[in-house]
Amino acid sequence: MNLPTRVRLGREIVRRWWMWRRHESLVLKGLVNNIVMDDEVFLRLYETLHREGRITLTFREQYNLFRFVGQAHALGGDIAEVGVYKGGSAKLICEAKGPARLHLFDTFEGMPDPDPAVDLFRKGDFGQTSLPEVQRYLGGYGNVLYYPGRFPESAAGLDAVQGFSLVHLDVDIYESTLSALGFFFPRLTSPGFILVHDFGSSRCAGVRLALRQFLESAPALSIPLWDTHCLVMGCGRQHPDLPSPSPHRPQASEDPKSAPGVDGIDDVIRRRAPHAAVPRPARTGQPRPEAAGGRPTPRCALPTSRRSCPRAWRS
Ligand SMILES: C[S@@+](CC[C@H](N)C(=O)[O-])C[C@H]1O[C@@H](n2cnc3c(N)ncnc32)[C@H](O)[C@@H]1O
Repeated sequence: MNLPTRVRLGREIVRRWWMWRRHESLVLKGLVNNIVMDDEVFLRLYETLHREGRITLTFREQYNLFRFVGQAHALGGDIAEVGVYKGGSAKLICEAKGPARLHLFDTFEGMPDPDPAVDLFRKGDFGQTSLPEVQRYLGGYGNVLYYPGRFPESAAGLDAVQGFSLVHLDVDIYESTLSALGFFFPRLTSPGFILVHDFGSSRCAGVRLALRQFLESAPALSIPLWDTHCLVMGCGRQHPDLPSPSPHRPQASEDPKSAPGVDGIDDVIRRRAPHAAVPRPARTGQPRPEAAGGRPTPRCALPTSRRSCPRAWRS
């Protein structure tokens, strides 16, 4: 082995040893060879947020959000977060958003009205926060707007906003997730993203249920990410045919056990809220809604060659 190779090897060993010392838990999680380990800006931010103890997102989820905010920054739209709590994830967004406007929605008094049939949370959970405290915490960042109160009522007056390039949804419960998806999806820039937290959490079956119901009527892609995030992308901007998602509550006569396409989270929904579980729509052999006298399927604004993608992606 020649000298330069030995030096390179030695440096790499020292780097890895240093990473191990500094981020032992991340190394154990198999992240040592990930590019995140070279992202000093993010790692420092992660350490700060970890020390402050206000954020509920995992390491991977924080990195997802950080990277998406970076992309959104380039798209030029506004950014929103529904579900702020003590402001931890909002601070992460602020650090990466540049001059973009950030709209923050929360009751700042805890969960509004979870649905006991599907949500595990109770009214008032996450109540250990307040608007003035979060405003103090984020006081050093510019272009941050606060909307205290129950969403979507708190969003009245937002119509002046031209478009959202990124929305972080972290509300944990069914009703709030469904209403936020319905509100923001038609207001996305093209491209634009909604990052839904807790989609993959076994404690938040209501989030998964809401997203599935939403996807039944919206031309959208949904891509599950680690750890519990799910990325929802619009495939056309402010499409005139886009119906607002109507919450579909299966009737008592629908037998959830007979529904096809059961996956892990569906099992959880079925166990915890059997009457709220939705059957997955059959992929083939289904008559088009208009053929059955129903509302026409909304058309995607993408070129014909790319129109087939949204349905294929739906979970
Ligand atoms: C898990 S916490 C958010 C954590 C935060 N994103 C973080 O990681 O730092 C969920 C928040 O959603 C808020 N929330 C849920 N539904 C809401 C609604 N309909 N309107 C306003 N706030 C809501 C709750 O008040 C709670 O603060």
